[in-house]
Amino acid sequence: MQFREKTFLITGASSGIGRACAARFAAEGARLILTSRRRDALEAAAAQAGGAAVIPADLTDANSAASLCERICADFPRLDGIVHSAGVGLYAPSYDSHPDKARRLLELNFLAPVEITRRLLPQIPDGGAVVTISSVAGKIPLPWLNLYSASKYALNAFSDGLRIELAERRIGVLNVCPCYVETPFQQNVLQGRVPANLAGDRMFKVTAEECAEAVVNGLRNGKRTIVVPRIGWLLVLAARLFPATVHGRMAQYKPRRVD
Ligand SMILES: NC(=O)c1ccc[n+]([C@@H]2O[C@H](COP(=O)([O-])OP(=O)(O)OC[C@H]3O[C@@H](n4cnc5c(N)ncnc54)[C@H](OP(=O)(O)O)[C@@H]3O)[C@@H](O)[C@H]2O)c1
Repeated sequence: MQFREKTFLITGASSGIGRACAARFAAEGARLILTSRRRDALEAAAAQAGGAAVIPADLTDANSAASLCERICADFPRLDGIVHSAGVGLYAPSYDSHPDKARRLLELNFLAPVEITRRLLPQIPDGGAVVTISSVAGKIPLPWLNLYSASKYALNAFSDGLRIELAERRIGVLNVCPCYVETPFQQNVLQGRVPANLAGDRMFKVTAEECAEAVVNGLRNGKRTIVVPRIGWLLVLAARLFPATVHGRMAQYKPRRVD
């Protein structure tokens, strides 16, 4: 896919991977619509990208998500792609996760991309693109954020199924599975803290800019799924071939409680 003169909606554009994608897509000549809850942070991201439309919305609020989509349909006759980057973590065992927070997690990480895609798909022409920023946690169950993992497994299934549903229209669906990306993600979680013994043990670390570069290359080369960095595929493969060993190693990491 080419980016010049194409219009993309990027969710979660005020921070981290979404913000880096905004800057990287703009450098390729794309036009951008940026959304998240915080207007000031979105305006800073828009300025960094050399100008973009900013529409704040809370994607866990059905009315707010609906007005975002209605505004896009009214103001932008054509939309070439969506990057679903808004997402949040929750560090707790499934049985200790607060039920309201678990619901918000699923609303943002899974239901919001489904609903926004449903509403905006009629705007996207044949040959367009949908990008889901998922996680390697959607390929390997990570017990210190089990429900987050579950939300990303659901997102992966949606993304893979959508690609098949849209194949006739040549709309590419790129599923991005980063390992660990240096962003404020760990400070923004709904509950708990990263396990102490994991915090200093980050094998496959990348910057948000490296992740955005991988997204651009993935779209340009018509990829289906990418793991970022690519060496993370080894972890995915190891978990498929030797689940007992890999899951046994994962069990040593326990999330820290924050009440
Ligand atoms: N960082 C990692 O290690 C990592 C690894 C794998 C996958 N990921 C995935 O990458 C994506 C981006 O995460 P990140 O690392 O860039 O984290 P981040 O810096 O915390 O960014 C999260 C983004 O989501 C937005 N957001 C949060 N709640 C929202 C809501 N209710 N409605 C609308 N927007 C909301 C935030 O903006 P506002 O606060 O302005 O609303 C922010 O722009 C997520 O889907 C995450 O699961 C991250």
